[in-house]
Amino acid sequence: MSFSLATASYIGATILFILCLGGLSNQETARRGNLYGMIGMTIAVLATISAPYVAGFGGVVWIIFAMLIGASIGLYAARKVQMTQMPELVALMHSMVGLAAMLVGFANYVDPIAASHLSGAAKTIHDIEIYVGILIGAVTFSGSVIAFGKLSGKISGNPLLLPGRHWLNLIGLLVVIFFGRQFVHADSIGEGMAYLIVMTIIALAFGVHMVMAIGGADMPVVVSMLNSYSGWAAAATGFMLSNDLLIVTGALVGSSGAILSYIMCEAMNRHFISVIAGGFGTGGGTPAAAADGTQPAGEVVPILSPETAELLRDAKNVIIIPGYGMAVAQAQHTVYEITRFLREKGVNVRFGIHPVAGRMPGHMNVLLAEAKVPYDIVLEMDELNDDFPKTDVAMVIGANDIVNPGAQDDPNSPIAGMPVLEAWKAKTSIVMKRSMASGYAGVDNPLFYKENNRMLFGDAKKMLDEVLVALKA
Ligand code: TAP
Repeated sequence: MSFSLATASYIGATILFILCLGGLSNQETARRGNLYGMIGMTIAVLATISAPYVAGFGGVVWIIFAMLIGASIGLYAARKVQMTQMPELVALMHSMVGLAAMLVGFANYVDPIAASHLSGAAKTIHDIEIYVGILIGAVTFSGSVIAFGKLSGKISGNPLLLPGRHWLNLIGLLVVIFFGRQFVHADSIGEGMAYLIVMTIIALAFGVHMVMAIGGADMPVVVSMLNSYSGWAAAATGFMLSNDLLIVTGALVGSSGAILSYIMCEAMNRHFISVIAGGFGTGGGTPAAAADGTQPAGEVVPILSPETAELLRDAKNVIIIPGYGMAVAQAQHTVYEITRFLREKGVNVRFGIHPVAGRMPGHMNVLLAEAKVPYDIVLEMDELNDDFPKTDVAMVIGANDIVNPGAQDDPNSPIAGMPVLEAWKAKTSIVMKRSMASGYAGVDNPLFYKENNRMLFGDAKKMLDEVLVALKA
């Protein structure tokens, strides 16, 4: 393939990637967006392996061999992973991008061909590209590995707050800048390599320290932030390899990840810098404890499936609030059946989606779309939060933190200030979960003790199946 054809293919792939991102911003166009992305990536890969600078037939064989290994691992992971484990998988994939950027950087530095035809300012720029590329790659790699550990529960969600942690970060940054200067002026590859290795160790430690300091409740922001870092790591690799498509694609991922982090921060009422500085949030999954350390106060009123069905049958307006538990129970198909039944009976059923419901951005939208719930009744939190006082039943399915009134009333709560779905303002709220355990942020939920709240205890799928049978009876 000639250079001009390769360039034209790259431009075509770039346009398709932009159309892909545009498509993914809306549920109705998401499938088309995905298709654009797949076509763009196929063009990009074909153009790259048949480009004139790939070292002949031998080079292509190596690339295909590596792609086969990568594709087999990817296919196996994608088939095996549960929907609820998706954020861990995403974190692991980000770590791969970081690792690739690091390895490409080191390989590029010791590559005798790349080094031989550069001198003066061009060599300095190339050295800076390598140094910055390895730096971003190392932070992304170690940060993502820790995020994987936290999301999968292998590492505690509690923030690790070392004494003088901001000073440690500052000293690390200054040492990295100093070694960067030394690296650019190094007389030999051996000397430069020593500086690179020291910087890499500091960057790896920084990535670990940064994510360890972030509490469980702020993990959504970390996931999207590492997504952004992985994009910048890919862009840095593009600079090292002088590959325009990689630069553009990395910048697209980096900037869209940064925008997503901003949206996540807004959704949780956090300042981006405070999240990165760490210290918010607590561990998750522990039994509920009140904010002042005492056991939760108040009585809860349990309810059974037939009574739940009766409340739903008598309602005119119902808002369903799905959360992580619906994903665990895989209850979305029964939710759809109940929705269809109620709508046929003239009940106005809508879904309220919190931006951080579940364990990854868009988690609930994906599940509801899979169950074929019509898009027009799936609304964002801001679109229906004012409608709760006019709602007969707010049905909370496996959600907890996102309906916690403590976020508004308790300034000491780890989720204080996070906007929540105001389910308690409905005439009756029904919370469907297995026990009184807390959600991801590890805090008690005063909603459970409200007078107008009922608790339907049990696995969401089992309970909803029972509700559906009772509705149809
Ligand atoms: P959570 O607050 O985590 O609550 C989920 C609830 O589901 C739990 O209290 C659990 O109670 C219940 N549950 C679990 N399995 C169930 C089952 N089989 N049947 C019925 N209930 C079940 O979830 P949420 O309200 O969706 O809030 C999301 C939380 O995750 C937020 O704190 C958010 O910050 C965090 N987070 C979000 C993301 C993104 S990007 N969305 C990423 C990381 C973290 P029982 O054990 O009593 O059943």
